[in-house]
Amino acid sequence: MTDTTIERSAPEPEELGAGRRFPQNFLFGVATAAYQIEGAAHEDGRRDSIWDAFSRVPGAVVNGDNGDVACDHYHRYRDDVAMMADLGIETYRFSTSWSRVRPDGGPTNPAGLDFYSRLVDELLAHGIKPWLTLYHWDMPQALEELGGWTSRDTALRFAEYALDVHDTLGDRIDSWTTLNEPWCSSFLSYTGGAHAPGRQDVAAGLAAGHHLLLAHGLAVQALRERDPGLELGITLNLAPVHPVDPSHAGDVDAARRIDGQFNRFFLDPIFRGAYADDLLADVGPLGLDAVVRPGDLEVISTPIDTLGVNYYHGEHVSARPAPVALQGSAPTDRPTRSPFPAAEGVHWHPQGLPTTAMDWEVEPDGLRELLVRVHREYADAAGVKLYVTENGAAYADVLAADGAVHDEERVEFLRGHLGAILDAIDEGAPVHGYFYWSLLDNFEWAEGFSKRFGLVHVDFGTLARTPKDSYGWYRDLIAGQKPAR
Ligand code: FCB
Repeated sequence: MTDTTIERSAPEPEELGAGRRFPQNFLFGVATAAYQIEGAAHEDGRRDSIWDAFSRVPGAVVNGDNGDVACDHYHRYRDDVAMMADLGIETYRFSTSWSRVRPDGGPTNPAGLDFYSRLVDELLAHGIKPWLTLYHWDMPQALEELGGWTSRDTALRFAEYALDVHDTLGDRIDSWTTLNEPWCSSFLSYTGGAHAPGRQDVAAGLAAGHHLLLAHGLAVQALRERDPGLELGITLNLAPVHPVDPSHAGDVDAARRIDGQFNRFFLDPIFRGAYADDLLADVGPLGLDAVVRPGDLEVISTPIDTLGVNYYHGEHVSARPAPVALQGSAPTDRPTRSPFPAAEGVHWHPQGLPTTAMDWEVEPDGLRELLVRVHREYADAAGVKLYVTENGAAYADVLAADGAVHDEERVEFLRGHLGAILDAIDEGAPVHGYFYWSLLDNFEWAEGFSKRFGLVHVDFGTLARTPKDSYGWYRDLIAGQKPAR
């Protein structure tokens, strides 16, 4: 680790608006995911996940990058936790790798679990609350070869894996998340083909989406039965979806479809025990009807305690093409298709806002709008606590001649989005925590190492860590908000 001592400026919570403060119990954190940072891909019994296999497909990942080494967090976790403590975070969201814990989806691998046990001990020794996600996209490749998420059996295997992890870590972790962003691990991966396993099949994406929901419900039931005191939840990537012209029927229908196939596909079964009628009319005959069995929706709607919201940008859609198209997917030599099963003729329109290196528009107020909606329409009635489990931005960061990374745009991004959370709270939507994505620059899936989201710069040659200016800003913000710590 390079020196993490950054000169402290006076904490300035008023940067978010004069004297604005987060609720006392609000948790500040950062998030990461196993495959994106761990490396040690073939150590201590770990076997291939779908991301190891996908990374070998020519043209699938920018520069042919892979997670064999990534940030080498598997070996450097002590230094990384020391850095988290210096940053002052109260909670750390990480994921366990299914292919480390149950290589090939088979018997438990104690050496793999032991890594997470050591990591959790290290976090607790530094007073950092571990926030565990069981599935951040790295399914054992052997299970993919048996059908992956298109197979109902995978949901049962997932619940067994959840119990394995709980057997080892349950005594030290309260907050458990079943899945990260099931939209990505179903539609983007099995229909769009942009992520592992890279299939391009509408019915497969719908089956995957339903089986992921079933896996979530089964794991919640199994964990709840084992340990009624756990805080259980799921993390969804959600977005406000707007018609470009609210008076144009085609645009309104486009927004309804995308809201259905992005947000409500997951929210309605979890919170209401049903897929919405309009969604069923659009996608039921394309493959969803074929996989839903009696009783599934009761399992999926098993009560939860927390909902993680991941927010990056809003969606502005129309039935008419945009004058200037939005960019934003990883360049790939492989064919991909739209991840949406029933959205032919829907077009995305840029709003003319500043964009990140991902070509995502920076839209902090969308986070306020989203949190208020999710609270009012879903979480409030269910008594479910909302957390922002991911939010962040990639920029073309460079190590300057003075050895620092001056990432003012990321500071601006953080300031805007934390302010939007305060706006949501003021509007009556309680939000209980925020996890910046991400602690470290890391393996950004199909973008490889080409996109940097970290508060900490990583040199992927030497693996040296250099805190960016945004790290100092976030540290000062936390210190100012939590002066008693
Ligand atoms: C989210 C993923 C996370 C990271 C960010 C940029 O969709 O959950 O792993 O890639 O996007």
